[in-house]
Amino acid sequence: MAEFTLPKGSRVKKGRTFPAPEGATNTKRFHIYRWDPDVGGNPRMDTYTVDLDECGPMVLDAVIKIKNEIDPTLTFRRSCREGVCGSCAMNINGTNSLACTTPIEDFKGDVMVNPLPHQHVVKDLVPDLSTFYAQYNLIQPWIQTDTPAPTQERLQSREDRAKLDGLYECILCACCSTSCPSYWWNGDKYLGPAALLQAYRWLVDSRDEATGERLDMLEDPFRLYRCHTIMNCANVCPKGLNPAKAIAEIKKMMLERQF
Ligand code: SF4
Ligand code: SF4
Ligand code: FES
Repeated sequence: MAEFTLPKGSRVKKGRTFPAPEGATNTKRFHIYRWDPDVGGNPRMDTYTVDLDECGPMVLDAVIKIKNEIDPTLTFRRSCREGVCGSCAMNINGTNSLACTTPIEDFKGDVMVNPLPHQHVVKDLVPDLSTFYAQYNLIQPWIQTDTPAPTQERLQSREDRAKLDGLYECILCACCSTSCPSYWWNGDKYLGPAALLQAYRWLVDSRDEATGERLDMLEDPFRLYRCHTIMNCANVCPKGLNPAKAIAEIKKMMLERQF
C-alpha cells in the first residue's frame, strides 16, 4: 500500500498504526483524527486497517468496529445509525457527511476521517457545537401566536403544509454550516445555513404569527447577509435540502416588507 502523507505544513502529525488482523484479505485503511484535551499538544492521525469482510457497509460501521475491537479510546458521536439523528456528522475524505449513510465502497483508496471543520474539538471526532445550538435557539424554533388557541388544533391547508417540505426534514447535523466559508470566518455573528433554514421554516409556516419579529431579529449586517451564495451548504446536505434557497427566500421577504 502507498505511504500515507499529510499536507505539507500540517500541524496534524502522523500517529499510531494498527495493522490488519492476521489472515484478512479484504482490507481498508482509515486515517482518523485524534486529539485528547487531557493530553494536549498537536492532533495526530491514527491509521487503522479494517477487515472489510468482518465489517458493516458504512463508514460508521468501520468507526464503531475500530472502537469496539481495536482502540476503545476513539471518541465520536452516533445514535440512530440510519441518518435520522444527525449526530454522526464527520468530514470524510474532505466532504462533510453522515458516517452512517456513507458507504465505505464509495472510496477507492484510504478513507480519511476528520471532525467537522472550523469548530473547536472536544475530543477526536467530536466537535463543539455549542455556538451552532445557541444560534438555533436564537431563531426561536417553536410556533408563536397571538390569537387565542383553538379548542382542538391550529389547522393548515394542504398547500400551506407543502411549503414546509424541504425544510422540516433538517436533522441539525451541521454538515452545511461547517462547510460554509462565510460561517468559517464569521461563525460567531453569521447564523449560518442550518439556523437560517430553520428560521425560514418558521417564517413560512402559515400558523405562526411572529413573522415581523422573526424578520426583525434577522435584520442585521451579519446574521443573514453574510451568505454569498457559495452553495457548499446545498452540496453537502445529507438530506438533500437547500439552505441557500431558504436564505434567498428570507432575503426576498426582507425586501418585500419594505414596500
Ligand atoms: S450559499 Fe450561503 S449559506 Fe450556503 S455555503 Fe454559501 S455562503 Fe454559506
Ligand atoms: S440543512 Fe441539511 S446539512 Fe444542514 S443541518 Fe439540516 S440536514 Fe444537516
Ligand atoms: S447516527 Fe444518526 S444520523 Fe448517523
